[in-house]
Amino acid sequence: MPDHVRIFEVGPRDGLQNQERIISTQDKIKLVDLLSDCGLSHIETTSFVSPKWVPQMADAAAVMKGISRRKGTKYAALTPNLKGYNAAIDAGVDEVAIFASASEGFSQKNINCSIDESIIRFEPIIQQAKIDKCNVRGYVSCITDCPYDGSVTPEQVIKVALRLLDMGCYEISLGDTIGAATPEKTRALLSSMSNYMPVEVLAGHFHDTNDRALENIQVCLEFGVRTFDSAVGGLGGCPYAEGAKGNVDTVSVAKLLREMNFETGLDIDKLEKASAFARSLSEN
Ligand code: HMG
Ligand code: MG
Repeated sequence: MPDHVRIFEVGPRDGLQNQERIISTQDKIKLVDLLSDCGLSHIETTSFVSPKWVPQMADAAAVMKGISRRKGTKYAALTPNLKGYNAAIDAGVDEVAIFASASEGFSQKNINCSIDESIIRFEPIIQQAKIDKCNVRGYVSCITDCPYDGSVTPEQVIKVALRLLDMGCYEISLGDTIGAATPEKTRALLSSMSNYMPVEVLAGHFHDTNDRALENIQVCLEFGVRTFDSAVGGLGGCPYAEGAKGNVDTVSVAKLLREMNFETGLDIDKLEKASAFARSLSEN
């Protein structure tokens, strides 16, 4: 039996949040619907953040309401605070993600608070999610480099990841926010992290600024990581990390995994159609 790798599609959120042109709600819904047909278990569909901070995600509830849900797919969303969490649950999301940073500079710029303050802000989300039986994923951004503070050590990442796990996150997605990770840095990070937590709780989230994302994924696979975030069409970036390019392209990851004899359950032909549509949204 080939080993299974789970692709966590983040294109409709990470891919679209940074587009200059405001994309219509209808087009966002169409993209999610195309992706729902590709066999994905998870689609990060939108984010319930402040529209003043990320105007592109202001129609989060309308997107959730408009999509056609496929059985077997979980529709996830980012929630920075309880207000966002409540709105996400009202809109029918299946799981949420809280997002912290390993570096203070990015935490301040992205969510307007320190790392400690962000953890305090996440607590009521986790408490309510436990009552609602809603899974919470945790992101740790800037796993090797921060656009504001420079180099980030594995110890900084481990500290935040452990706090998120202790709170109740079921998985930690390791965000290479500006795509500065190299295979050497990724290896150093994972070999330290694996002393503190099982690799099964880790996911890789690589932006592809320097075209190293696929190599970084291969390093993660060597360590036993079996979940990777990717964005259809390679779209994306973070509005609060200038110069950050898109996430690694879902089709490229799916093809790499197929070559390596991993099983993903994805229909690559359908993914290519969704990719073409995603790219058309960023070009128009
Ligand atoms: P703030 O300005 O400090 O918060 O922002 P506030 O509580 O003072 O709220 C300001 C206004 O926003 C208020 O409205 C709130 O009601 C409203 P006003 O009273 O002025 O009219 N507001 C909200 N509205 C809707 N939904 C909400 C919400 N919260 C407040 N949830 C805050 C703090 C965290 C809200 C803000 O900084 C924010 O929304 N940041 C999100 C930034 C973001 O989305 N960044 C991109 C995603 S992270 C990423 O891309 C990295 C990742 O991909 C991993 C990686 O690559 O590393 C995940
Ligand atoms: Mg990202």
